[in-house]
Order: sequence, then C-alpha cells, then structure tokens
Amino acid sequence: MIRVNPNYNKLQASYLFSTIAKKVGEFQASNPDKDIIKLGIGDVTHGLPPASIEAMHKAVDEMAADETFRGYGPEQGYDFLREAIALNDFASRGVTIQADEVFVSDGAKCDTGNIQEIFAQEARIAVPDPVYPVYVDTNVMAGRTDQCQDGRYQGLVYLESTADNHYVPALPSEPVDLIYLCFPNNPTGATVTHDELKTWVDYAREHQALILFDAAYEAFIRDDTLPHSIYEVEGAKEVAIEFRSFSKTAGFTGTRCAYTIVPHDCRAYDAEGNAQEVHALWTRRHTTKFNGVSYPVQRAAEAVFSVEGQAQIKALTDSYLHNAAHIREQVSALDYDLIGGQNSPYIWIKTGEDSWNFFDRLLNDAAVVTTPGTGFGTCGEGYIRISAFNDFAKVEEAMQRIVATLSI
Ligand code: MLT
Repeated sequence: MIRVNPNYNKLQASYLFSTIAKKVGEFQASNPDKDIIKLGIGDVTHGLPPASIEAMHKAVDEMAADETFRGYGPEQGYDFLREAIALNDFASRGVTIQADEVFVSDGAKCDTGNIQEIFAQEARIAVPDPVYPVYVDTNVMAGRTDQCQDGRYQGLVYLESTADNHYVPALPSEPVDLIYLCFPNNPTGATVTHDELKTWVDYAREHQALILFDAAYEAFIRDDTLPHSIYEVEGAKEVAIEFRSFSKTAGFTGTRCAYTIVPHDCRAYDAEGNAQEVHALWTRRHTTKFNGVSYPVQRAAEAVFSVEGQAQIKALTDSYLHNAAHIREQVSALDYDLIGGQNSPYIWIKTGEDSWNFFDRLLNDAAVVTTPGTGFGTCGEGYIRISAFNDFAKVEEAMQRIVATLSI
C-alpha cells in the first residue's frame, strides 16, 4: 500500500497565498462587477526592463539557428551571468564572491525551500515570527517538526520580531543550528543594520551554526548605511548562504530567475564533527535535481547589469517605493502604527483587530486584497501586510477605498 508522507498532514490545508487567491476568486465570482485591486501577494505589475527584453529577443534568435543554438546549459548557470552577478552585486560593494560561488536558479522561493535538504534531519531550526511561510513549511514537509499547536510547529525555535525589538529578533535562548533571516524583511519591511547583522554572524561562528539569509528585497534599500548583503559583515562567508532574485528587482516573477551564493568557505559538519564544504553539497543537489534556467532568460538577467539595465531597474524599484510612500502616508493619517515601505515594498500595519477579519473587511467593503499578518505566524496576529507592487493609479484608488472603509 502506498502511504503518504505523513508530514504533509501536519501542514495547514493550503499555502497562504493559495488560500487568499481562493478567497479572492470566490469574492469576484459573487461580485462580478467589482474591480478588485490586488495589494496582497508581492507580484510585480510593470513590464520587464527594455534592456532585458532586447537581450531576450536576441537570445531567442540565437536559439533559432543551428550554429548558435544551445541545448542543456550548465545547471549552475552560464558563466556570463555568474560573472556579472559576482562583479555587479558583490565586488561593487567591496565583497569578493567568486563566479563559481553563484548558483543561478528559477527562484528564491525554490532555493530557500530546497536548501534545507542538504542539512541533517535533526538540525535545530530557528525561524523568525512573522516569517515567509516557505521556510517553515519546507521543514515541516521534511519531517523536522511535530504537530502545529496554536499556530506554531513543535520542534521549531521561533524568533519573535515585534515592535518591541523593532522587528529584528534577539538571538535564540536555546541552541539552534540553522537560522533563517530575511532583510529587508518579508513580511514586515523592517531592515537590519550592519551591527545587528554582525551579532548574528558572530553567533553563528561561535555555535557552528549556519545562517540562510534571504536578500530578495535588497534592491529596495535606499538608506546608504544599511547592508545589502550579509557578506558585508566580516566572517559571514564561513557561516552564511545568501538568496537573491531578479523577481522583485527586475520584474522577473513570471520570467523566473534567481541566484544563491554558497561561498567555498561556508562549512557544515558531519556526525563526527568534521567540517564539510556546503558548496560541494549544494553543487551535488543542484546538478542532480535542476537543469538550469533557460538561455534567453539568463541573457535577460545579464542585461539587468548593463548601464541601461541598472537605470531601468532603479526606475522600477523607485516606482514601487513611491507607491509604498503613498500607502504609508495614507495609513499613518488614519493613526495606525506601521513599519516598512521605506527600504522595502511591504508595509506592516498594526490593526488591533483579528487579521483575517480585517482582511475580509478590506476585501468585502473596499475590494482591496491585502495579506493577513497571521498568515505569517502568531506574531502577525493583529497586523496586515500591504504590498506596494501595483501601478500608482491603482494604489491611489485602493488607498481611497481603504480610507473610506476605515473611516466609517
Ligand atoms: C510574498 O508576497 O510574500 C511573495 O511575493 C511571495 C513570494 O515571493 O513567493
């Protein structure tokens, strides 16, 4: 008899954004005339940068001719893209990352979800609360937790991120081996300083732990004092893996291209305590289970680093930050406490009301989709997240409707 993976039965019935999509679909079906505005899932709305489109067209033409056609590419990505990433994202900030430490993939969601499988089953996992649900659910699927009770999986260590600690969690009070951090944060939009990040790097070095640093939103940082990469902290290469993406930076959510940095210096240990290169493990995993991002998409990603590409993505991220500023202004005028939206496309708002009720109220009365904070963890109860990814006119309209709804 074929048995199911029992760990799947510990999970909530559906993934957060699938649940929201279902609710929105039902609302639209019963209100076909309503013009729903989506500020829920962080999905970009503007077209790809022209530099990427041009490069993609050219690459498609290459694929059409036998002489320039390409079949399977290197699983870890073409050298042209890995080198462009190492140079533009890291060397430019004084960080030395070798091109072969860059692993190109089809998404930071997949990479942050898949990475856990190269670590021991008994690894003690620390996740922030609130948290991007992928970090938690993939460890549940892998069997590293017990049941979920009162919104928390037994066996995970939760690092509370609240207004009291400015949404940067304190070090764990019990031993952990694998630590997920995300800055600028999804969902809160909070940022981390170099000193705060150093505290984590020092902790990981002292405890032979490893940090999984999700930097998918680094392109939204406008405060020059904030680190864009964990590798700006000395010693981080020994204890951290960093995830990045073209999705939010360059509008690739539907095109799919991301990258993960696994430095050669990064170590994990076998049962006898012998150090092993994490790079070798991830290479083995990636080459076995992944066959590379398509050539035209990698050329499109490479073009993001051209002079024109850089100007175009700056304009793109600026436009979303302009939306975020408007959301902040409107919500603040209603006297709600909030964080985020300055170096991040997400605004995290304290509603003081059940998250799902608040979400339902905004959907039913304003036809605006947000994300209930509780979907990201127990510390998210009483909060909602508004995403700034949309066109300005839509954001303005959504905020007018929200203000009208909440002013009643
Ligand atoms: C979010 O809205 O949290 C993100 O868009 C989800 C994702 O990137 O997978």
